[in-house]
Amino acid sequence: MPEQAGSYNSIVLDHFNHPRNMGEMDRPDGVGQATNPACGDTMRLFIRVERNRIAEAKFLTFGCAAAIASSSITTEMIQGKTVEEILMITKEMVSEALGGLPPTKIHCSVLAEDAIRAAVADYRNKDSSPHPSPLEGEGKDEGRGKKGKRS
Ligand code: FES
Repeated sequence: MPEQAGSYNSIVLDHFNHPRNMGEMDRPDGVGQATNPACGDTMRLFIRVERNRIAEAKFLTFGCAAAIASSSITTEMIQGKTVEEILMITKEMVSEALGGLPPTKIHCSVLAEDAIRAAVADYRNKDSSPHPSPLEGEGKDEGRGKKGKRS
């Protein structure tokens, strides 16, 4: 790509040219979107959570090479980790996992950090919503012949 390709290392270029886990996720457990106010670039992160661990992660990013590479490596970094563990991931860790970003592109990894937090917030918000229980209502009709146990 013409965009400063010479200043990116081979890890960044690999993730940019062959992004991992790119695309939309059908019925994710959490979706987080982040926009870089400096440039308007946007990342959307989808997570599927099983037993409090990230079972699957996908992304859609409209942005520069560093943003796409950061998004790609972030999906690899968070898979298998707990929800609490991924909240500890910082932009510096994303940049480090990419072998470093050019100084003018460090801010691009902020998208990943922000998208993780937004996806977890969305997951926790959905997870705390009331789930209808199949047992709901049981025990409320004790007056209809299901008297409570005597103790
Ligand atoms: Fe916008 Fe990289 S220039 S995220």
